[in-house]
Amino acid sequence: MANVYGCDIGTSNMKLFSKERDEVLNEKNIIAIANKDELMAFGDDAFQMYEKAPDYITVSYPVKYGVIADIDNMEKLFENFFRKMTHGKMSGGNDFYIAVPTDITEVEQRAFYELVTNAKVKARNVYIVDKPIADGIGAGIDVTDSKGVMVVNIGADTTEISVMSLGGIVKSKSIKIGGNKLDESIVSGVRRSYNLVIGLKTAENIKKQIGSALQGEETFAKAFGRNIMSGLPVAMDVSSDVVYDSIIDHLRSIVDAVKMTLEITPPELAADIIAYGINITGGTSAIRDLQSFFEMETNLKANIIPNGSESVVNGIRSIISTPSYRKLAHAPKEKTYIG
Ligand SMILES: Nc1ncnc2c1ncn2[C@@H]1O[C@H](COP(=O)(O)OP(=O)(O)OP(=O)(O)O)[C@@H](O)[C@H]1O
Ligand SMILES: [Mg+2]
Repeated sequence: MANVYGCDIGTSNMKLFSKERDEVLNEKNIIAIANKDELMAFGDDAFQMYEKAPDYITVSYPVKYGVIADIDNMEKLFENFFRKMTHGKMSGGNDFYIAVPTDITEVEQRAFYELVTNAKVKARNVYIVDKPIADGIGAGIDVTDSKGVMVVNIGADTTEISVMSLGGIVKSKSIKIGGNKLDESIVSGVRRSYNLVIGLKTAENIKKQIGSALQGEETFAKAFGRNIMSGLPVAMDVSSDVVYDSIIDHLRSIVDAVKMTLEITPPELAADIIAYGINITGGTSAIRDLQSFFEMETNLKANIIPNGSESVVNGIRSIISTPSYRKLAHAPKEKTYIG
């Protein structure tokens, strides 16, 4: 029997599911290459080197805004993640179910399919699952029935808002705002408020520690950086107020996009969304007080799905193991040529 794998190839994190092992590998989707073509490290190990590596080592993310931007490195990474997951024991043919964004071009969608068929992972069959569909299933919702479902996936580079019913996508909207934008704005905010230059990794840590969608009681996080005036490395306490001011406009933009999507949602489906609430997934949904913020801004119930970063891959896992969901996976679109 073939082994079956599921994958959600994210901008920040690679999530790979093995049916045989019944486990998910979730690591930073990042690669470190020395002297142009020697693999130094991949995944979480390569992330350790991010923003720290000397010039001869290039540490990079091959996926940008949910699209494969660097095919060669993505293929190397995929093969290495796969080898890690299977502990190097690769048997006969493997079936893959891959989550692909719906709001990108056909050529960009096809690149995900070709990545898996071209990589040395012994792919036999490769099936596509529309990312929002997998996301909804992973959030524990049966998206195949006739009720309207809204899922908002706040990832690293993008936020994808989808309204689904009967196993299909009725309305969707994608904006280029996610955790990475929050990190960048924290870097700028800390620089402005403290004359302190910090790295993106530090900003991400600060965000996880004291970032919040509501301005609560002031707390602090320790940050190491370089003082702009003296040029010297220093440690400073960064206030949650500074972090809040840095990120809140992005969170407002996300809510605005959700409202815009609700405005164009057919009324019968909107009624269901009112009844069941908005489901929020993606790694960035873990930011503190996001539920209250969404509920205040939209006057609708908001459900934060636990372990949101893995919601898409968990959905694929259900699709693989539930016969009635199999129809949600399909073959890739035929190649279309222009001209
Ligand atoms: N506790 C937390 N608080 C705030 N943000 C978090 C937390 N944990 C993870 N994140 C953020 O979640 C993001 C990663 O989420 P996710 O794995 O859903 O992204 P992705 O699927 O790789 O990206 P995309 O969907 O945009 O391609 C990162 O920006 C990370 O900083
Ligand atoms: Mg994602």
